[in-house]
Amino acid sequence: MRAVIFGASGLLGRSVMRAFGDMTVTGTAFSRSAGALVAVDATSADAIARLLDRERPDVVVNCVGERRPAMWVGSPGRARAANVDAARLIAEGARRCGARLVHISSDYVFDGTAPPYRPDSLPNPLNAYGRWKLLAEHAVHAACPDAAILRLPVLYGPVRFAAETNLTEIARQVASGAPVELDDVCVRYPTHADEAAEVCRRLAGALLQGQRLGSVAHWSAEQGLTKYRMALVIARRFRLPSDHVRAGGADAASGDRPVDCRLDSQDLPAALGPARRLFDIEFPTVVEPWLTASGPA
Ligand SMILES: NC(=O)c1ccc[n+]([C@@H]2O[C@H](COP(=O)([O-])OP(=O)(O)OC[C@H]3O[C@@H](n4cnc5c(N)ncnc54)[C@H](OP(=O)(O)O)[C@@H]3O)[C@@H](O)[C@H]2O)c1
Repeated sequence: MRAVIFGASGLLGRSVMRAFGDMTVTGTAFSRSAGALVAVDATSADAIARLLDRERPDVVVNCVGERRPAMWVGSPGRARAANVDAARLIAEGARRCGARLVHISSDYVFDGTAPPYRPDSLPNPLNAYGRWKLLAEHAVHAACPDAAILRLPVLYGPVRFAAETNLTEIARQVASGAPVELDDVCVRYPTHADEAAEVCRRLAGALLQGQRLGSVAHWSAEQGLTKYRMALVIARRFRLPSDHVRAGGADAASGDRPVDCRLDSQDLPAALGPARRLFDIEFPTVVEPWLTASGPA
């Protein structure tokens, strides 16, 4: 079996590459095309077609996206292209070459006012990113009706720089001792990237066996935490002071961050088997290297 993973240089894509290690797998990158990763601009239909014609994959996973808030504001055209145009072009490419497609979406398609959200709950995104992710879902569905769209909440996992995840950024803030205010209103469900990747692998396996699971699926950890609560959990685990961390409500007050998008992911474990990684057990390994001023060696 052959797989092509678009966005393999990113947080989730790196985990997905490992999860598809039982296949002949090709990963793509854009600005970080080091090592074996192939440089592909996923906003170019020609670049996508060239790669897929060469690799002839059985399955394609799209982990391309622009999820950094600074980019939504600073470069909205590029952010929209990475989130929407790339999704449509990859779906068209997968359809054309006869590959099964797993497309990654986000809990930000919901407004966060009425959790938990089921796959058929009505989306109502509050910000540009959520609207782009929803437009991408529609484009993927139109181009490739058999695709599996997997909505995920905020991810954490092994990072290459602290700002790559909220969790590691918060760990730096706890360790620094400098006064900081963190939102204590918006609840997030940090899910390990390796767990999400394993779900992608199982979804792909099910698609390849011809199982029909519904076009949209949800996966989420169960434990909900605000950014402030994450800071306290980190401080407690590593016996660090936390009196410099204050509870605030800035994210919620901005009006464009959903308060609680808990995804009801009951359908997937039933169909694909459990893949749970508990936050309390997993987070120390992920944050520990980022608790020193210099970061990991
Ligand atoms: N991280 C989360 O908390 C989270 C939560 C829910 C859903 N998601 C979704 O999960 C997916 C993966 O997210 P992530 O966290 O892994 O993001 P990430 O770490 O920022 O990685 C994004 C990937 O997209 C690639 N990319 C960006 N623009 C591209 C372009 N024009 N052409 C080709 N590749 C391009 C990047 O390549 P280079 O880095 O090489 O430029 C990178 O491989 C996205 O769809 C995101 O919306 C993420």
